[in-house]
Amino acid sequence: MGETIRPHGGTLINRVIEGEKRTSLLEHAATLYPLKIDAWTISDLDLIGVGAFSPLTGFLGEQDYHSVVERMRLKDGTVWSIPITLAVEPQTANELAIGQEVALIGAQDGIVYGIIEVQSIYHVDQHKEALNVFKTDDEAHPGVQKLFSRPSTYVGGPIQVLNRPKPDKFEEFYYDPAVTRRLFSEKGWKTVVGFQTRNPVHRAHEYIQKSAMEIVDALFLNPLVGETKSDDISADVRMRSYLVLLENYYPKERVFLGVFPAAMRYAGPREAIFHAMVRKNYGCTHFIVGRDHAGVGDYYGTYEAQEIFGNFTPEELGITPLFFEHSFFCTKCGNMASSKTCPHSKEDHLHLSGTKVRALLRDGQCPPPQFTRPEVAEVLIEGMKEPEYQV
Ligand code: ADX
Repeated sequence: MGETIRPHGGTLINRVIEGEKRTSLLEHAATLYPLKIDAWTISDLDLIGVGAFSPLTGFLGEQDYHSVVERMRLKDGTVWSIPITLAVEPQTANELAIGQEVALIGAQDGIVYGIIEVQSIYHVDQHKEALNVFKTDDEAHPGVQKLFSRPSTYVGGPIQVLNRPKPDKFEEFYYDPAVTRRLFSEKGWKTVVGFQTRNPVHRAHEYIQKSAMEIVDALFLNPLVGETKSDDISADVRMRSYLVLLENYYPKERVFLGVFPAAMRYAGPREAIFHAMVRKNYGCTHFIVGRDHAGVGDYYGTYEAQEIFGNFTPEELGITPLFFEHSFFCTKCGNMASSKTCPHSKEDHLHLSGTKVRALLRDGQCPPPQFTRPEVAEVLIEGMKEPEYQV
């Protein structure tokens, strides 16, 4: 058994209530003020509960919120770059009082997901939040759009989870941080590199993953499967593509596939820090940050998500980021490369835009094998036939 890395903040939070205590809290919840929460908030609640967002024990209160927005730290100084908040309508906030317990109920299914103890009720300036977190208040940015669609009154306080969201598919790939930590340790892995993605794994992704695998014990392929913008490929199709890729091209004993059921924020640099902290909680010692990590459109510089790590000391990060240059297939080299390893000019490099690849796949055509493994392309072509992509 290997040692596992210290969780962010020192303790892996567990606020998932089980057994008799859960039964009695569910009875208690039925007597509380019912607050409806959407799928995004249910996902945040659950990730806090299982410790993926350690050291958070609940939704951010006012002081932590301002500290996170302004200086990327909780008020005690711990690195934290994305505000995890519970937004409520102002009239709802008026009905709540500090110290009150509130039942958090799924808006769609009526399930009691948890309880929050209200410690803070506050109004925020969402434009300021947008400018600090997303570096823009342009409503065309999907993260900003999501932020502005929520009320600007937030409620903070510790939570308890009473029911877990149930995945529609691929349930066997949902592992809580306590479980991944145990499994990595049982496998004897001392160093594990985490890989975040919201896309199918193309050759450039494979190249940076395998470059990292040369220096660590294992890869934790940890695709984000929570809410993404509508033109990203669905988690279901992506999962099928990861399985076929791993089956054909990766050593089974050195790769672990498990999903990250969080929503995508598209906050570029700040989200890279957040992604790294969370992967530390899952037991990773290293984390891959390539070009334009968690970016969208032209809002962030190509390597800004790498540069932001320079604001923190290695000790306060606690996980080692592995930075990769923009990677591509070079026809002269005859292999995958980056500007760090290839002397040839742009004309020799294979570049395909996401839009172009999508168009090919929708037409039933495989992108070149130097860009996407044929087995992966087949799954994607099949997936693209689903009605949601026929627009
Ligand atoms: S993300 O929004 O989840 O970051 P994506 O799935 O595209 O998007 O990227 C996953 C990881 O691979 C990120 O760290 C990203 O920086 C990196 N990456 C994607 N494409 C390339 C590339 N061509 N060269 C280098 N790194 C890349």
